[in-house]
Amino acid sequence: MIWDPDPEDLLEERVRELLERMTPEEKIGQLCLVNGAGGHVPDSLRWDIAGGHVGAVLNEVDLGTVNELQRVAVEESRLGIPLLIGRDVIHGFKTVFPIPVGQAATWNPDLIERGARLAALEAAAAGVNWTFAPMIDIGRDPRWGRIAETLGEDPHLASVLAVAMVRGFQEGALSEGHGIAACVKHFAGYGASESGRDYNTTDIPEIELRNVHLPPFRAAVDAGVASLMTSFSDLNGVPATANALLLEQILREEWGFDGFVVSDWDSVPQLAVHGLTADDRESAYEAAIAGLDMEMASGTYREHLATLVAEERISPHRLDAMAANVLRIKLRLGLSDRWHTDPGVFPVPGDPEHLDAARTTAVQSAVLLVNRDGVLPLSTHELESLAVIGPLADEPAEQLGTWVFDGDPQLSVTPLQALRELLGGSVELRYVRGMEMTRSWSTEGFAEAVDAVRGSDATVLFLGEEAILSGEAHCRADIRLPGVQEELIAELHAIGKPLVLVVMAGRPLALESVVDQVDAILYAWHPGSMAGPAIADLLFGEQSPSGKLPVTFPRVTGQIPIYYAHKNTGKPATPENVVHIDEIPRGADHHSAGGSSFHLDAGHTPLFPFGHGLTYTEFEYSDIRTSREVVSVGETLAVDVDVTNAGGREAEEVAQLYVRDPVASVTRPVRELKGFQRIRLAPGETRTLSFELHTDDLAFHGRDMRRRTEPGRFHVWIGGSSQAHLGTEFEISHPSEE
Ligand code: NOJ
Repeated sequence: MIWDPDPEDLLEERVRELLERMTPEEKIGQLCLVNGAGGHVPDSLRWDIAGGHVGAVLNEVDLGTVNELQRVAVEESRLGIPLLIGRDVIHGFKTVFPIPVGQAATWNPDLIERGARLAALEAAAAGVNWTFAPMIDIGRDPRWGRIAETLGEDPHLASVLAVAMVRGFQEGALSEGHGIAACVKHFAGYGASESGRDYNTTDIPEIELRNVHLPPFRAAVDAGVASLMTSFSDLNGVPATANALLLEQILREEWGFDGFVVSDWDSVPQLAVHGLTADDRESAYEAAIAGLDMEMASGTYREHLATLVAEERISPHRLDAMAANVLRIKLRLGLSDRWHTDPGVFPVPGDPEHLDAARTTAVQSAVLLVNRDGVLPLSTHELESLAVIGPLADEPAEQLGTWVFDGDPQLSVTPLQALRELLGGSVELRYVRGMEMTRSWSTEGFAEAVDAVRGSDATVLFLGEEAILSGEAHCRADIRLPGVQEELIAELHAIGKPLVLVVMAGRPLALESVVDQVDAILYAWHPGSMAGPAIADLLFGEQSPSGKLPVTFPRVTGQIPIYYAHKNTGKPATPENVVHIDEIPRGADHHSAGGSSFHLDAGHTPLFPFGHGLTYTEFEYSDIRTSREVVSVGETLAVDVDVTNAGGREAEEVAQLYVRDPVASVTRPVRELKGFQRIRLAPGETRTLSFELHTDDLAFHGRDMRRRTEPGRFHVWIGGSSQAHLGTEFEISHPSEE
């Protein structure tokens, strides 16, 4: 349960009392989420709120206006029910943290919870009491612009981090007196939009829906999330906004959710555009009977629900249930006692403590993909001059990433500023932009960049994507570095000096064509306000990298979808049976015997696997062992391993545990993440890590859609990526069904 000013039975009594006093129109009013006017209260909105026709407002963050809207609701409407004030607080508010997929690369739930708590505090200072976050769609397609907002490709990682974010928004901040309601989205399947094109159709077999896409939502519901938002997309022929399997059967009947479900922006009238309904009235009907409580932006509920109830197509009981779901959350939030926001009780946005947390998160989110011959960290003692090149080295707004309505670029410290500060006068710094933007096609700036690189001991190149190239409705069909960035890398590589590539981007990019032309790649995502200090610290070894990929990096776009937890197929590829297109002799016979599952021009492996991330030391894993060889269903097993820092620097490592169920009644992935631990080890230090594995952690939905743990032998591995090779086996005895 989240926060709860009243004991639950009292709360239900208050909901009932309120419903008894409400007219059908007032109940419908609670289901209407309308857009704010941005800094003032238009008369129409004032009348609507006073008349009880509005339950929630989004996109109003001017505190005076929010307080006035709330005053009208509380003092001028008949029942005085305060408003929900919703906003996309996605990765920070004024202080911006790394984009969510970057936060996921920290594999650090504590840090993520703290980031959400600080964002909640900053947002609550503007009167916001409800965030449309976290986004917990499974992201397996880097073409999709919204992969930036996801917590990655893996159901377990996304579930753990989703719970951390929900707690941060709702609980953590509450202890400081200012929790805001969270809203997990987009329920469900949005991440599977065909061809990575936003809003596109999704066709997801129910078994995959349940095993892959739904677990983070289930975890968030179990953690007490206040609300869910439906997906824009069509799921197996029934758009999510009117999908009763999702909204009624799974969410209410199976999971027992008692908060409310909101549509996405206009997604109710869009049911007609999908071709599910003929007009707005039928859209309102289909959404309401499927289990959608609140409508965002559009007004089909306001226009048509009363008639639909009067015609007895929607029962009064259904309308009561919808309104009750919203009222319950308003009561749990304690809004009646805190509808007026006094900014004086909040920390100032951009408070040093907030910036410090953003910096730590940015440090831990950066993933060191490549580090040839230990070129990183750079050393101020060994360098006399450094070239800083690239269109993203000094862009305070671009480093913030997508979904930063309220982010304050004035708080940003860019890499160029931070490097100047860190190096002082000790290293001569030559900055050349090289390209106007990452997507520019002009090579005019190359000559100056080449000169700077020639005249310097080493180069750091800041490339990637501006914020606008990812996010909602910003998808790409080709995910290589845009514009002439690859050409710029080739020219600078030819000079032969140490070349470090820092990538800022909203998605995994396909880097195969440049990976051999640079000495190191630090993947920083869009790191937020404190990008500069975080990256400078990492480049110069003040901090050791510790991020791990939350999503697989393909070699080329055509490999998508590519993810580590794939099925084995009947003809798995191995290094021995993969043939490259260049190796096929002229006139070769075409036969399928001995063939396997790979691409002639890309093989079958990713460029960088899920979980990958290097640092400035080496971690060695040894002596994996289980507490028992056989466990019964319902029992717990311990899996231990020794981890040693075998290098010369203190650093953090994320140890990851994967399992495989090699024989089951439905085919299972070749590996699945089931646990992870972030540890810090001094040089030479060895630590024994213990992972607890309950047999329920190995359960899955089978052919009949029921969840069960099947007995048999299991493989288990622990290591520093999804390609960990240190493993052992154990057995689960006795079949069981839940
Ligand atoms: C549309 C987006 O899909 C959703 O994620 C967001 O919360 C709403 N707009 C409100 O801005």
